[in-house]
Amino acid sequence: MLNVILFGPPGSGKGTQSEKLIAKYGFKHLSTGDLLRSEITAKTALGLEAKGLMDKGQLVPDEVVIGMISHALEANPKATGFLFDGFPRTEAQSVALDNLLKKYNTQIGVFLALEVSEEELVKRLLNRGLTSGRSDDTNEEVIRARIIEYERKTMVVADYYEKFKKVAHIKGEGSVEDIFNTLCNEINKRV
Ligand code: AP5
Ligand code: MG
Repeated sequence: MLNVILFGPPGSGKGTQSEKLIAKYGFKHLSTGDLLRSEITAKTALGLEAKGLMDKGQLVPDEVVIGMISHALEANPKATGFLFDGFPRTEAQSVALDNLLKKYNTQIGVFLALEVSEEELVKRLLNRGLTSGRSDDTNEEVIRARIIEYERKTMVVADYYEKFKKVAHIKGEGSVEDIFNTLCNEINKRV
């Protein structure tokens, strides 16, 4: 069983590459952003609370996303490997994930960190905002707030996995196909 974290700032290509990786390796995809957006669509209490924060580009509380991941792990006992996208985003989430995986006698195999310049991120997200319907893509102020939140709270997550020598740095600019091939090479080294 190989569990993978696909890490990177907003707009770095986590969702795009996740789709290709799950098709190739059969990972169970766990995107906390997608899970939160499903809660918003279903108009649950959790979704309503999360929406206010997401619309401002801020992270939702650790307990909320850790609870969602805990349920998802429990609900997928037959999975042969998880692909975490957009989680963990704080050091507390990383520690919680390690503890949860220990319960299932497994661990993170590799931490793939997509690296993209800020100007390219803003350009991609404004462009996606024209059609995505995602309220956090529609204006540059919120996009920049998401990037600041990433720099303040999330970048440290890479240092956490660096201590366990699990990090592979991946250039996230260029063609989707070339980036995918680089990600596959890193995964293949570990299976
Ligand atoms: P989340 O849904 O995780 O969004 P994000 O991290 O801000 O990133 P995106 O999904 O916007 O980008 P991506 O990296 O997936 O890139 P994509 O492939 O789409 O989180 C949303 C919010 O939910 C957060 O702000 C927070 O409030 C909350 N949240 C989620 N998880 C949380 C957690 N763990 N803790 C607390 N709060 C949490 O690509 C972007 C665009 O670029 C697309 O248009 C794509 O077509 C294009 N593109 C992709 N690759 C390339 C390429 N190589 N060249 C050119 N264009 C490309
Ligand atoms: Mg995404």
